[in-house]
Amino acid sequence: MTTSQRLGVGLISVGWMGKVHTRAYQALPVFYPELGIKPELVIAADPVPDRQDYARDVLGFAEATGDYHEVLARTDVDVVSICAPNFLHAEIGIAAAKAGKSFWIEKPVGRHAADTESVEAAVQETGVTTSIGFNYRHAPALEYAKQIIASGELGRITNFRGTFFADYSSDPRGALSWRFIKEMAGSGVSGDLVGHLVDLVHYILGPIDRVSAATSTVHPQRPIPAPGGGTHFDLVEGGELGDVENEDYVAMLVQLRTDAVASGALGTLEASRVTVGKRASYDLEIYGTNGSLKWDFERLNELELAIGGDPVRVGYQRIMAGPSFGDFGHFQPGAGTSMGFDDLKIIEAKKFVQSYLGREHLNSNIHDAVAASRVVDAALASAEDERWHKVAPVSGSTAAVTK
Ligand SMILES: NC(=O)c1ccc[n+]([C@@H]2O[C@H](COP(=O)([O-])OP(=O)(O)OC[C@H]3O[C@@H](n4cnc5c(N)ncnc54)[C@H](O)[C@@H]3O)[C@@H](O)[C@H]2O)c1
Repeated sequence: MTTSQRLGVGLISVGWMGKVHTRAYQALPVFYPELGIKPELVIAADPVPDRQDYARDVLGFAEATGDYHEVLARTDVDVVSICAPNFLHAEIGIAAAKAGKSFWIEKPVGRHAADTESVEAAVQETGVTTSIGFNYRHAPALEYAKQIIASGELGRITNFRGTFFADYSSDPRGALSWRFIKEMAGSGVSGDLVGHLVDLVHYILGPIDRVSAATSTVHPQRPIPAPGGGTHFDLVEGGELGDVENEDYVAMLVQLRTDAVASGALGTLEASRVTVGKRASYDLEIYGTNGSLKWDFERLNELELAIGGDPVRVGYQRIMAGPSFGDFGHFQPGAGTSMGFDDLKIIEAKKFVQSYLGREHLNSNIHDAVAASRVVDAALASAEDERWHKVAPVSGSTAAVTK
C-alpha cells in the first residue's frame, strides 16, 4: 500500500460545475491511483444557504461559508476550484492568485478578454498553477484525432467546420438567469459555447489569426426568476419579462495563422443555445487533402474517419474509442464501453493536479483562456462593425499547436 499525499480542496460556488469539480477530485484516487494523492474536501463557499448545506451534507465538505475569501485564507487549502458565474471570475481569480492558491477555473474566465487578461496578469505575478474548464479537449476520440492530424495522414488540412448547437435555452419560458445579462455573463453563446470550440481548434489545429462574424438573438425576452433562483434550465410560467442582452446564435468565418499545424486553413464556427432537435451536438469536422474526420459530443466515444486513395471505397469508418486513445484506459478496460461528460472533468482534474505537483504540464492554462477570449471578442467586434478582425497572439505558452 503506497502512502498518499493529502490535497486540501477548496470550492467556490456550489452550482452545477461546483458539483462536477467536487466529484472529479473525489474520483482521482480511483482512476489515477498513481497520482498518489488523497483529496480532502476542506471548505466550500456559496452565498445561498441551501447550497452551503448541500456542500457539507451531500458533497462532503468539512465546512461551508457564504464568503469565498474564507476559502482563499485557509492554510489547509492547497488548490481551489472557481465555479462562479462569469462576472465573478476576474475578481475571484485575481484574489486566488494573490492568496498564492493554484486554481482550476471554469471557462470563459470572465465576461470578455479584458477580464481574462487581468487574471493572467495576477497569475504571471504570483506563479500559481491554473487549469481551465475546457473539458472537450480531453475526449479520448479527439486526442486520437489530434494524433492523426499531427501524423499527416489527412494530408494538408484545408478547412474545418465546428457547430456547437445546444437547446438549453430553446424554450422562451427559460428563466432570465445571469447567462443572459451582459454585466454578469458578458457575451451569450459566444463565450459559453464558441469558447470551447475555439479552444478545440487551437488544441488540434493551431491558433486562429482572424475572424469575421455575425450574431442574432432569437428570443429577445425571458421571464424574470425569483431572486436567488433560476438557472438557465428552469422554466418560469407567466410573470414579468426582462430583456435578453446577449446573442443566442453566432456564425464565424475564421482563418488560422500560417505557423499553425493546419497553416492558414479556413473554417466556419457556429454556435446556438436555442436549437430544437440538436440537444448538445458539439460537432467538429476537419478536412485535409487526403482524408477527413468528424467528432460529435453527442457521440463522445466515436470518431468518423475517411482516408482517400481508393476511388471506390472512399467513405467514413466509425471508430470506437478504446484504451489506446488518450486517458480512456484509466476508465474502461475495453473499447466501446462509453465514457461521459463527468469523466472528461476527472481527466481535467488529473491534469490540473499533475501540473500543480510540478509533474507533466498537460493542463490548459490561463493563456489558453486568454487566447479563446480574444477570438470571442474579435468575433463580437466583427459582428458590430461587419469587418474582419485580427486576433492578437498571447504572451504565455498555450496548447495551440504550431509548426
Ligand atoms: N466546462 C463546461 O462545460 C461548463 C458547463 C457549465 C458551466 N460552465 C461554467 O461554469 C460556471 C458556473 O456555471 P454553473 O452552470 O455551474 O452555474 P450555476 O448557476 O449552476 O451555479 C453558480 C453558483 O454560483 C453561486 N454564486 C453566486 N454568487 C456567488 C458569490 N459571490 N460567491 C460564490 N458563489 C456565488 C450561485 O449561488 C450558484 O450556486 C460558468 O462560468 C459557466 O460558464 C462550464
